[in-house]
Amino acid sequence: MKVGFLQFQPILCDVEENINRISKLAKSAQKFDLLVIPELANSGYVFVDKKELEQTAEEVPTGYFVNKLVEIASEKDGYIVCGVCEKKGEFFFNSSVLVGPEGYVAKYRKIHLFDREKLFFEPGDGPFTLYNVRGSKVGLLICWDWIFPEATRSLAIQGMDILAHSTNLVLSYCQTAMITRSIENQIFTITSNRIGIETNGEISLHFKGHSQVTTPDSERIAQASTDIYEIQIVEIDLKKARDKFLSERNHIFKDRRPEMYNLLTEKKEF
Ligand code: ACM
Repeated sequence: MKVGFLQFQPILCDVEENINRISKLAKSAQKFDLLVIPELANSGYVFVDKKELEQTAEEVPTGYFVNKLVEIASEKDGYIVCGVCEKKGEFFFNSSVLVGPEGYVAKYRKIHLFDREKLFFEPGDGPFTLYNVRGSKVGLLICWDWIFPEATRSLAIQGMDILAHSTNLVLSYCQTAMITRSIENQIFTITSNRIGIETNGEISLHFKGHSQVTTPDSERIAQASTDIYEIQIVEIDLKKARDKFLSERNHIFKDRRPEMYNLLTEKKEF
């Protein structure tokens, strides 16, 4: 199976320019089965006013940007996961969509919001769901969801092969942590990060690139630069994600002791 990421710089509130940038890069790519594109790829990230979201967010799946993604998926005969600034009535969600040659498949609304996202977006409420992409089981998470291993685990225990992770990373820990997510769940992960410095009024953020694909045996089989537009597609062997034994007697899921983990599902005050 051929999977990979597209790394680029979206322009704040310029949906037309953003889909043009994505389209140009994606069309230049070799054949892929699954391509992951960064978080909030239609809108950019550094909002200071809800009016900016009003201008750029769209209803999913009927909006302009998602329809254009479907056109690209159809032309390339591959599946695409891409971050979308979603509008639903008066609310906004930091979402990602899965589209394929046959059209729109599904969306995921980011559950764990990062920093100022809490000023603009509602958190998603799942459920964690897997989707079939050419015989693989694919789960979707968005950026800051990475720091909650419970999120990846909730997908992995359902049989996830590949985590499609759309990001706008500003801290530098995630790429290392995703190797651990890969090992502890014996899955492939595809993290697609954006690049560039985005400034809006007083706020300026630097997005660090380094998009990557990680494997169950802890390898990074693709890794992008910090600041260049890139598309990388690599071949993966799904069999690697289906063998959950790490030794003759250690199956990473059968060895779990959920009866010891009840504190994890209790609501606690902090
Ligand atoms: C992030 O969740 N965009 C850091």
